[in-house]
Amino acid sequence: MTVTEASQLTPVKSNGAASSNGARSDSEILGREHANDADAIVEISAFNTDVTSVIHAVEDNADAIFTWNYDKGERARLDRLYEKAKTSQWNSTTDLDWSIDVNPYTILDIDNEMLVPYEIDDPDSPTYKFDAKDWDELRLEAVRWRLAQFMHGEQGALLCTAKIVETVPWIDAKYYASTQVIDEARHVEVFSRYLDTKLGGGYPINPHLRLLLDDIINDSRWDMTYLGMQIMVEGLALAAFGFMYDLTSEPLLKKMLRYVMSDEARHVAFGVLSLQEIYSDMTAAEIRERQEFAFQAAVRMRDRLIQQEVWDHFGLDVREMTRLTLELPEDKKVFQRLLFSKIVPNCRKLGLLDAGDGWLREKFTEIGVIEFEHLEDTGAEFTDYDLTDGTIDDGTNFHAQICH
Ligand SMILES: [Fe+2]
Ligand SMILES: [Fe+2]
Repeated sequence: MTVTEASQLTPVKSNGAASSNGARSDSEILGREHANDADAIVEISAFNTDVTSVIHAVEDNADAIFTWNYDKGERARLDRLYEKAKTSQWNSTTDLDWSIDVNPYTILDIDNEMLVPYEIDDPDSPTYKFDAKDWDELRLEAVRWRLAQFMHGEQGALLCTAKIVETVPWIDAKYYASTQVIDEARHVEVFSRYLDTKLGGGYPINPHLRLLLDDIINDSRWDMTYLGMQIMVEGLALAAFGFMYDLTSEPLLKKMLRYVMSDEARHVAFGVLSLQEIYSDMTAAEIRERQEFAFQAAVRMRDRLIQQEVWDHFGLDVREMTRLTLELPEDKKVFQRLLFSKIVPNCRKLGLLDAGDGWLREKFTEIGVIEFEHLEDTGAEFTDYDLTDGTIDDGTNFHAQICH
């Protein structure tokens, strides 16, 4: 490796995050003293003042990197992924039957899993006076909100992978990332179209998700784009799409999710394969910064799952609902925790869980998601999501795969 190549491979410039000597506190990482501070979580929502604005600009601090090494296949696993992506394209306009009539109230068969914990038989509970119709409306809003956040996250992925095309120094990675750009455009398009034509529109971006996407794009280091988007955001998305796929028999959404997941599994694999190489050359202090970034991203994503906007829509006290959510007993948070079932094994595979003093393992234990560490990582799993024979509703049960 030449000196120039080596300097490109070690992204040392930083911005936003303070440089780490391994001793940053939770409050420096999260901007609040405790991860479970309900007041601070709700206050972040107050920053989301531009919900009516159509444009949101984020400083992108990275250099665009040319490489004059055009040797395709130097990184064989990335090359295989690129070849796979070229033959796995689908057409969002013609491969999905947009004429299907959708009853928005019956999209999810057993969506209660996310909402049942709030059906508390206590006169002091905010939802105590909800009747059957209110619960139906709540389920519908929760679906609209969730699909809207997927859509915003997909746009984040679109921007991030366009950035990776510019910033990653390896030709095999540039080639692969370019296929992900078109994948993500298709994903934004299908979620947007489904929301607009079947559900009557979505929700603005959740402030915790927006903060996370801003942080990822704002960071100058190309490997942080990978960690934030390919591992954390996409890892959660892959698990979330899997649950929704299992819980719906609405044919359009089911087929759409199946197609999207076949792409997403490749995307997470791209992150794992690329970061394995770059992390192997990093110092302990650099790895620690990646651990902190992963923890910060995990907390932001957990915060977004509180779905504050949905509670607000029903005129419920958002602060109280946030507190209630954070204080739910562990057995009632199974669904929320399961969304981390892809992220944790991938962090383990990358060595982030146990690097240094096992700091990230401790943090994932604190937020109750460490139990998934031994599930299959997504470095190789993407083939399980293949659309091999064109059969979409192939009986695959992603929920069961994760639970067993
Ligand atoms: Fe996507
Ligand atoms: Fe993706």
